[in-house]
Amino acid sequence: MDLRYWLSSGVDAIAAWQDSFGPFEPDESMTISDERFASIFAEFTERLRDNYPFFHPSYAGQMLKPPHPAAVAGYLTAMLINPNNHALDGGPATARMEKEVVAQLARMFGLGTHLGHLTTSGTIANLEALYIARELHPGQGVAYCEEAHYTHARMCGVLGIEGAQVAADGAGRIDLDALDALLAGGRIGTVVATAGTTGLGAIDPVHEVLAIARRHGVRVHVDAAYGGFFALLAGSDSQAGLAGLDAAPWRAIAECDSVVVDPHKHGLQPYGCGAVLFRDPDVGRLFLHDSPYTYFTSDELHLGEISLECSRAGAAAAALWLTFRLLPPTPGGLGRVLAACRLAALDWSELIRTSSLLELYQPPELDIVCYFPATQPRSLSGIDRASALMLAGGMHDEADPVYLSTLRAPTSGFARRHPDVAADRDGARILRSVLMKPEARSHVAALHARIERLATAISTG
Ligand SMILES: Cc1ncc(COP(=O)(O)O)c(C=O)c1O
Repeated sequence: MDLRYWLSSGVDAIAAWQDSFGPFEPDESMTISDERFASIFAEFTERLRDNYPFFHPSYAGQMLKPPHPAAVAGYLTAMLINPNNHALDGGPATARMEKEVVAQLARMFGLGTHLGHLTTSGTIANLEALYIARELHPGQGVAYCEEAHYTHARMCGVLGIEGAQVAADGAGRIDLDALDALLAGGRIGTVVATAGTTGLGAIDPVHEVLAIARRHGVRVHVDAAYGGFFALLAGSDSQAGLAGLDAAPWRAIAECDSVVVDPHKHGLQPYGCGAVLFRDPDVGRLFLHDSPYTYFTSDELHLGEISLECSRAGAAAAALWLTFRLLPPTPGGLGRVLAACRLAALDWSELIRTSSLLELYQPPELDIVCYFPATQPRSLSGIDRASALMLAGGMHDEADPVYLSTLRAPTSGFARRHPDVAADRDGARILRSVLMKPEARSHVAALHARIERLATAISTG
């Protein structure tokens, strides 16, 4: 699609709508000439060049990529109105779009009933889920794996509840025996299972977590902020071209109490778009509050009445709605994008497996590949130093840059996966690449060759 054309169509459409309200003079206090704008805009765009090329396949670092052009067109067009999805009085059209996209997300997870809304981020979405956890089990804590996102420990602090860390197993998933023992103690009211951990992309066995939790009368919240859209690949082995995932953890999400997914990660959206969904709509009563200055245009449920946030960009809902109309959250829609990302990670891990210069830290489950240079001697200090040198070397090579990220792997993690590596320091940085652009798939061979060259350069230099 021609973004320039559709952006100007968006401007025209909103101008036509504005014209239907009759003319008025804009205030001269905000008037800026094109000439003046041009000079400052040139400075602005120049400053924006100080960025990493998230759009390019040579950027194989963190979870970062530009939104889909449809999301850009949707966001900017709606932003010209600037609706606030706090309430139907703030933006009826985008509030309704939000309800529709949230229903699509609920269907993606197989939720029969749901209450949910978009949020500004995965952090806020998880905060809301843990807030409900506290309200439903007052005085009891929240358990999460040591590999869970740091937000869970922080938000337990914010909410004034106990956060209990559970050990990870050798694949970076929550240790079920440790969880069972913790829940037997009776202090925990809610367990967080992560469907796609931030560091390794590991999938907690949600179905097994759920069975243990229910035995102890404990709720389950699923943090699928990063991994949620991979639900589209669950059980899809039989479908040509899709990288099927074991369906059991993903199907179990439908039976859990709440789930968070970030459209601003794998849903092709600009930042400012997370989502939280609860299976039991009755939790809405726990958000109950009064607002003397909003909620006046209808008796219909306003989104602000079921969330902790007040103002929220209606444009975020508009962008997601437009994107989902074009690439719906179905296996044949957005699923094809996710499949390409996961296949890129699987293809690359096969190349690393046969490399004498690189080693896999563990096999990828989604689209995150974690690996390290095969140093001599094989020690944590050697791996840590070499990984840091490769990160810097790739980024600062002006002729042929490549952008990676690092992950701090603990000593115990290495001992489980690579017991022959000498533990001469506490943990080591390893390299981590999130292949979240579908274009990564056709770039895997070039990326691998480039990173092998980096590994050679640091071992000889
Ligand atoms: C599993 C998981 N949970 C929560 C978050 C936090 O989400 P956000 O950065 O949108 O606040 C992330 C971010 O990467 C994540 O991967």
